[in-house]
Amino acid sequence: MPHFETLDDLEANGKAAGKRVLVRLDLNLPLQEGQVTDLTRLERSLPTLRELVAKKAKVIVMAHLGRPKGKDSAYTLAPIAEALRRAMVPTPVFFCKESQGPQVKEAIEHLGEGEVLLLENIRFVKGEEENDPAFAREMATWADVYVNDAFSAAHRAHVSTEGVAHLLPSFAGRLMEQELRTLERVLEYPEAPMMAIVGGAKVSTKLPLLKNLLPKVDVLVIGGAMANTFLAAKGHDIGASLYEPDFLETSLELMKGEKILLPVDVVVAESLEDLKNHQNRDLSAIGQAEKIFDIGPATIAHILQTMKRCHTLLWNGPLGVFEVPPFDYGTNAVAQGVARLTAEGTLLSIAGGGDTVAALNHAGVLNDFSYVSTAGGAFLEWLEGKPLPGVEALERTA
Ligand code: 3PG
Repeated sequence: MPHFETLDDLEANGKAAGKRVLVRLDLNLPLQEGQVTDLTRLERSLPTLRELVAKKAKVIVMAHLGRPKGKDSAYTLAPIAEALRRAMVPTPVFFCKESQGPQVKEAIEHLGEGEVLLLENIRFVKGEEENDPAFAREMATWADVYVNDAFSAAHRAHVSTEGVAHLLPSFAGRLMEQELRTLERVLEYPEAPMMAIVGGAKVSTKLPLLKNLLPKVDVLVIGGAMANTFLAAKGHDIGASLYEPDFLETSLELMKGEKILLPVDVVVAESLEDLKNHQNRDLSAIGQAEKIFDIGPATIAHILQTMKRCHTLLWNGPLGVFEVPPFDYGTNAVAQGVARLTAEGTLLSIAGGGDTVAALNHAGVLNDFSYVSTAGGAFLEWLEGKPLPGVEALERTA
């Protein structure tokens, strides 16, 4: 377990009450016409905020939205501030329209105990993403202690996620703590047998993840378009399906350990618009003009049967084109199977990654897994075994 201090240590040291606590959150929420459409990340950040408010800290929140190139009002955190205000009632939540300079200083000076101040998009500051030491020094003057609760931004070595952690006493927030403990439990001390499900479009982008996971799991289910490359490597005729010819050799190499479970049947159509003519096909019967868009019923049954023997499941990436029904059927059926085994208490189920969360939400089981990480890129990098700068910075100062 990486060693880092938490809010318990902050309290034990009597550090919170009356102190300025600078908190990095991931409030990178989806917006449509200025309205937040999914509050999950904000809701997961509330335990840390509420705890600090209850301890009478002066809470200064930093967060980013999107990837603005400099100051751009399209990426303002104003709508997020509104959502945060509603979620934190009756706690006063103020919004500072700057994320650097004298206005920030002044707003912090006026902040009372048990109050929250959200700064404007921290990526509006040029030095943020460059991890500029001068901006880190300025940021460190704003507070007495720093709390990082943004696991999902921890793969970024930016000032607000990494640089400032070296300049202030630093602590992990409750969400960061929960993500790290859960992921470590799954990757380092899983209860065997362990199954991983990896889907998505390309072997090339998931290669580091596959290589890191294979030695740790008993069964690795591969789905999505990336399974096509494995099927082609085994000599199956996959018709007009997408695949990566440059990765046939690599796929054969990965299959040597005999842990990989591939589709044994598939759902095909000539195009995603040609929904009426979708067909279940054995691997030997795919037509030249047909493309694979989902796993078939025999594959679903095989995965679920194998899963019954497993005690740990890690899922990243959908098994088919879940955004376009009926090609969501395979992902839905397997996800619902995971939810059943989790409810029966035989399976610890962990999922994460942008598309995965959307796919599980679509299958109606997002809350039925043991744990679903809110992280996208950071979750993938963790699964690849890469060090996360935001986590490492907490460890060093612990
Ligand atoms: C995310 O949405 O995964 C995090 O907020 C990180 O965002 P980024 O990829 O723009 O750094």
